[in-house]
Amino acid sequence: MHETLERWGSQRAFILAVTGAAVGLGNIWRFPYITGENGGAAFLLLYVAFVALLGLPVMMAEIMIGRAGRRSPMQSLLQLANQAGATPHWRWLGWFGGVTVFLILSFYSVVSGWSIEYLVESVNGDFVGSTPAEIGAGFDAFLADPLRMTFNHTLFLLLTMSVVAAGVANGLEKLNNLMMPLLYLLLLVLVGYAATTDGFGTALAWLFRPDLSAVTPLVVMHAMGHAFFTLAVGACALMAYGAYMPDHQSLPRAAVAVAALDVTVALLAGIAIFSVVFSQGIDPGEGPGLMFVTLPIAFAELPWGQLWLGLFFLLLLMATWTSSINLAEPMVAGLQGVGLKRGQAAALVGVAVWLVGLLSVFSFSSLAEVHWIAGMNFFELVTTVPTELFLPVGGLLIAIFAAWVMPRDIALRALDAGPAGYRVWRTVVRYVSIPLTLVVLFSTLI
Ligand code: TRP
Repeated sequence: MHETLERWGSQRAFILAVTGAAVGLGNIWRFPYITGENGGAAFLLLYVAFVALLGLPVMMAEIMIGRAGRRSPMQSLLQLANQAGATPHWRWLGWFGGVTVFLILSFYSVVSGWSIEYLVESVNGDFVGSTPAEIGAGFDAFLADPLRMTFNHTLFLLLTMSVVAAGVANGLEKLNNLMMPLLYLLLLVLVGYAATTDGFGTALAWLFRPDLSAVTPLVVMHAMGHAFFTLAVGACALMAYGAYMPDHQSLPRAAVAVAALDVTVALLAGIAIFSVVFSQGIDPGEGPGLMFVTLPIAFAELPWGQLWLGLFFLLLLMATWTSSINLAEPMVAGLQGVGLKRGQAAALVGVAVWLVGLLSVFSFSSLAEVHWIAGMNFFELVTTVPTELFLPVGGLLIAIFAAWVMPRDIALRALDAGPAGYRVWRTVVRYVSIPLTLVVLFSTLI
């Protein structure tokens, strides 16, 4: 395949596209519940450290490869490996990433479907006058209803794959451009409300005063996996976006902007959600339902709460939509590379993701007690292993390729930060990011 001539319309459009990929369920749904399960501030501290030391440098590596190759991830890796005189097997890294995001998309679609359900219920006014206990029970009843869940999962996947098939990511990015600032605004409103609850102080202390005795190797592993997940790094999905990055734009500057936007959303969501958790006496370790129980409670207390809540789920849906088209991209690009038309590739991936997603749907009813490995049911497995094992392994290989294999002059040009900037980046990747990932991976495996 030839080099692509497509480019994001502007430097800003590129940053927005990558932010669209990064900001999603990871920030608003996964970050609070996983922080809750892992003890709070110590986890947050580790996660921020991993974003800075691993996530950011590897994000630059990943986009750099795409930008230098200007092809699908698989073909970019192959092309650059050839230029470097390295083994063509590097292209399998692209497929490994494709499988990783395929699995992630299968549960991502199911959980995004929960947002659709909650959007409809808030617009209907179903939460008006409900007590916190009723809201909690309502969520459990929804999970126990595979039919309703399948419907929403199907709807979300159709939304995603039709955009992917049309290749109009650009149009969606424009919409995103509009929605993203609104999402921030609404999160700020929520934090403002949170500040008036009596759980606010406890939430801040719990999020920002680390108790280092809570840190176990497993907590470290969760934090590392989440850093990759939230930045959309480690599965060659940003590599695909990097192929369209315009010339003459500093990659490090764009990456830092994305990471800052991403972490801010997570922090705002965390403060809002944990204030409600502590003022209502909810268990922070409640798990994947945390956001769906706390937000309706919080909004119920606000004037026009129902309206805000509906708007919130709408914006969340937009954020997950721009993430899910990114999740689908590596597989679709890969299949296109082996001769399928874009529409065919999108349909094939869509049907396969839908089927695998059903296993997550039924993990809350008939398959709840079917344990695959280590006592995990399918949903637990697919929300853990691809994120916490596959993304770090993928990120490690991407980092090795960019910092040790890629020819220096090509990498230097793709990073677009001058020779000194390049040297700093390469030193960090070679001597901090790569060893750190290896140490964490091995220490948890042992
Ligand atoms: N970062 C997104 C979120 O936080 C999820 C996501 C989009 C992702 N693209 C990805 C995760 C690529 C891993 C790899 O919701």
